[in-house]
Order: sequence, then structure tokens, then C-alpha cells
Amino acid sequence: MKRPSSVGFAGKWPAIFFAASGLLFLLQIAANQALADSGGEQVQRGEYLARVGNCMGCHTARGGEPYAGGRKLNTPFGEFVTSNITPDNETGIGHWNEEDFWQAFHYGKSKDGRYLYPAFPYTEYTKVTRQDADAIFAYLRSLPPVVQTNPPHRIHSPYDNQLLLFLWRTRYFKEGVYQPDNSKSDEWNRGNYLVQGLGHCTACHTSRNVWGASQDDKLTGGKIMGTYWYAPSLISPLEAGVGEWPIKDIIELLSTGINGHAVTSGPMATIVRQSLQYLSDDDIRSMAVYLQSLGEKQSSDKAPRKARKMSDRVRQYLALGEQVYEKNCQDCHGESGQGVPGIYPPLAGNRSVTMTSPLNTIRSVLYGGYPPATAGNPRPYGMPPYQHFIRDTEIAQVVSYIRNAWGNLGSLVNPEDVDKSRGNEF
Ligand code: HEC
Ligand code: HEC
Ligand code: HEC
Repeated sequence: MKRPSSVGFAGKWPAIFFAASGLLFLLQIAANQALADSGGEQVQRGEYLARVGNCMGCHTARGGEPYAGGRKLNTPFGEFVTSNITPDNETGIGHWNEEDFWQAFHYGKSKDGRYLYPAFPYTEYTKVTRQDADAIFAYLRSLPPVVQTNPPHRIHSPYDNQLLLFLWRTRYFKEGVYQPDNSKSDEWNRGNYLVQGLGHCTACHTSRNVWGASQDDKLTGGKIMGTYWYAPSLISPLEAGVGEWPIKDIIELLSTGINGHAVTSGPMATIVRQSLQYLSDDDIRSMAVYLQSLGEKQSSDKAPRKARKMSDRVRQYLALGEQVYEKNCQDCHGESGQGVPGIYPPLAGNRSVTMTSPLNTIRSVLYGGYPPATAGNPRPYGMPPYQHFIRDTEIAQVVSYIRNAWGNLGSLVNPEDVDKSRGNEF
């Protein structure tokens, strides 16, 4: 009996086999592709998040290989040296897995079980989600490994002590991922997550006690440990609180480093240049929304005090400052301290100039400086350093003058204040 159909069917086996294996093969390619895409996507997201956290800023020595560490951070407790976080097996974190990274990033504990010093802002990064931490790790794994052994920390006794660090952690470190506040908008929560967590704004904008611990996470301002800069309050309308600024002005300052009322300098200019200018429009807006909600509105008791009655001596002192100003500063900052929008910051009505701490203002005059170069302000105009051109007495006079001219009101500054503000950090 002829069974053409079955012969025919058997005859088709090879074709079916090839078709099926071909299909499998295609499926395999598609699956691999999907895996690669999700891997690639995760790495890309990690790269972005690493920018937000400014890992490269700290983990790169001046002129050194990115992420290979070796940058020295001065603090009252000694000199900390950042680690090599490229995936080199011997000198970097090549042997680490996701869990090791999470232990370091979230708990501040290295792979070898050593407690990490809070010069690494894990006290803030602990708020970052596991998913974001994994993405950052995936990105670090994708970097070319760099063989680089960094010098050890040079920490003053008795701080070089794991038991002390353990006690410090018990007292001052609260581990925990950010918990959204459901009564607030998604945008506000995102902003809070970024400001308090990965953006580690709190690391600089809070005061620290003698143990180097943030007094609170309220962003009420403080001198940055080991540097000669004061990071102003992000709440007070007399310092850098932005409660009364329109969102677009806050966005402009954070993403370009300058706006009509303010300019970022020193360590803040570095943060804008290395990190904030790369944030997505949505993220920078979320930050602005959160910062605006933090900033108090100017209330009557917070309003600048009434002009004081000046003695003749004070009047003379300020008149000398005015002369220094006319000779050295007026060309850029204007006859009535009005500045040139987007180019030279106004000094009249500028809170950086009038805030209680004169430190940053003195440093601007001593060392000059540039706002950050950003896509929004690619060729910033700079300010010359005056430390070699005019004496400390004159710097004290001119700073006193700009703190009290054109309706400004601030304390007077003397030559000792100027001398105390010297220091090379940044
Ligand atoms: C303000 C500077 C600073 C920033 C910003 C910073 N780090 Fe660090 N990091 C340090 C210092 C200092 C250490 C060394 C701490 C120690 O040895 O106790 C360190 C250590 C580490 C370690 C532990 C390495 C080891 O061998 O144990 C990892 C991992 C790490 N950083 C990852 C990151 C990542 C990821 C980011 C960005 C999200 C980041 N760091 C941002 C200063 C910084
Ligand atoms: C490395 C320390 C450091 C970090 C981190 C930091 N800041 Fe600052 N910030 C400063 C210093 C110092 C100043 C004062 C100098 C200046 O006015 O630019 C400042 C100033 C500011 C100002 C006022 C600018 C002006 O002139 O009116 C704002 C607003 C601000 N920071 C927001 C932030 C936000 C938001 C973050 C987190 C994304 C942040 N800062 C992170 C150090 C820091
Ligand atoms: C060549 C133009 C130029 C001259 C001259 C000049 N400045 Fe500036 N000034 C600038 C620029 C540009 C900045 C922004 C620098 C920065 O962001 O670091 C600035 C910043 C400042 C700031 C910081 C303002 C802020 O918002 O943080 C103060 C204070 C200041 N200048 C005072 C003076 C005084 C006092 C003199 C004279 C002794 C002077 N400047 C001379 C251009 C100038």
C-alpha cells in the first residue's frame, strides 16, 4: 500500500527540523538582543545616576584616570584618599558582586568587612534604591579596568580606629532607602530623593558637629569640613533658600550655574559643572520643586534689619572701601552694584554678599574665580584674584563696603577675617 502522505510527511521532516531550529535560532538571537538591550539600558542608566551622584568628581585624582581614585580629601580628621572603583581585580572592585557593592553603598561596609569612613557620603547614598545602586554598579563594571594602587588614608590618631567608627555609626548613621511621602506629588518626592540621596546636597549644606556628623538633614547651612567655604542654608531666605524664586530661575541656576540674581562659585560651581548640568529636564525640575518647597517665604521677622546708625568711624571705613570698589570692581559690577545680567553677578541685593558669614565673599575677592562652564553658559566670564594686588586692609574695606552699599546690610569685616579665610582647598 502506498502511503504517500506519510512518506511525504517523513520527507518533510528535515524541512520542519530546519524551520524549527531556524526559528529557535532567531528566537535565541532575539532573546540575546533583549538581554543586551536591558543590560545596555541598565549601564546607561547607571552612567546617568553616577553623574547625579558625582562619583567621578571624588573618585578621580587631578589629571588622573576617571574612577581610579587617588583624590585626597582634607578634613579635620586627616586626609582621606578615594578608592579605585574601576573593575580591576587587584586594585579596584573587579572581584565585587552586586551584593558587595550594595553593602558598601547602602551600609558603608567594604567587601573585606571594614567600615568605611563617612568621607564617602554613604550616609546620604543609603537613601538610594537597590535598583539604582545595581545600575550604578553595572555601569562601573562596564568601565575599562585601571591598575592603580592608591596611597593609604592619613588619619590623625585617635580617629583611625574601627571601634570608634562603629560607635560613630551607631550614633549618627541611619541606614534606609528613601520612603516617599504619599501626601506629596511624585515630582516633589523625586526631588527629595535626589537632593537628600544621590545628589548628596546634605553632605555640604548642613552644619557638622565636632565628630563630623551632620547635625540634621535640614539643609540649614554650614561651613564645609576641611575647606574654607560656607555652604549656605537652602531654607533661609537670607541665604540660599529659594522659596520665593520662580521654578524657572531655580532650574536656570542649577543647570547653567548662573541666573539673574546669583552665580555659583567654588565647590558649588564644581557640582554644577561635574554633575547638575547633566541632569534630565525632569530631574532638575523635580529638584527645583523640592527646593522651592523647602525655602521659607520671607517673613517680617526674617526681613533684613533696619539700617543701623553709623558712627563716623564706620562711615570713614566704608568710604575707604568705596574708593577701592571704584578703582577695582566697578567696571564689572557696576556703579550701583547692579552687575550685568548673565555675565557679572549683581552685588546689590545679592544674598551671597550679605549673608552672615562673609567667608565666601572674602574668598571671591582673594582668589577670584569662574562660574562653571555649562551648555547653558559655555564661556563664562571670570573674576580676577585680588590677593596680590590689594592688601588685606583694602580687601576688608571693600568687602565691608559691598556688604553695606546700595541697601545691602551686613556686618563689617576686618583684616584678620580676611587672613583667616585663606586656604587652598578649591
Ligand atoms: C565626597 C567624595 C565622594 C563621592 C562624591 C563619592 N565617593 Fe566613593 N568614596 C569616597 C571615599 C573617601 C572613599 C574611601 C572610604 C574609606 O576607605 O573608608 C570612598 C569609597 C567608595 C567605595 C568603597 C571602595 C572600597 O574599596 O571599599 C565605593 C564602592 C564607592 N566609594 C563608590 C562610590 C560611588 C558609586 C559614588 C557615586 C554615586 C561615590 N563613591 C561617590 C569618597 C566619595
Ligand atoms: C561639595 C559641597 C556642595 C555640595 C555637594 C552641594 N553644594 Fe550647594 N553650595 C556649596 C557652596 C560652598 C555654596 C556657596 C557658594 C555659592 O554661592 O555658589 C553653595 C551654594 C548653593 C546655592 C546658592 C547659590 C547662590 O549663589 O545663590 C544653591 C541653591 C545650592 N548650593 C544648591 C545645592 C543643591 C541643590 C545641591 C545638591 C544637588 C548642592 N547645592 C550640593 C557647596 C555644595
Ligand atoms: C573682570 C570683571 C570683574 C571684576 C573687575 C571684579 N569682579 Fe567680582 N565677579 C566677576 C565675576 C565674573 C564673578 C562670578 C565669579 C564666580 O562665579 O566665581 C564675580 C563674583 C564676585 C563675587 C561673588 C558673588 C556671588 O554671587 O557669589 C563678589 C563678592 C565679587 N565678585 C566682588 C568683587 C569685588 C569686591 C571686586 C573688586 C575688588 C570685584 N568683584 C571685581 C567679575 C568681576
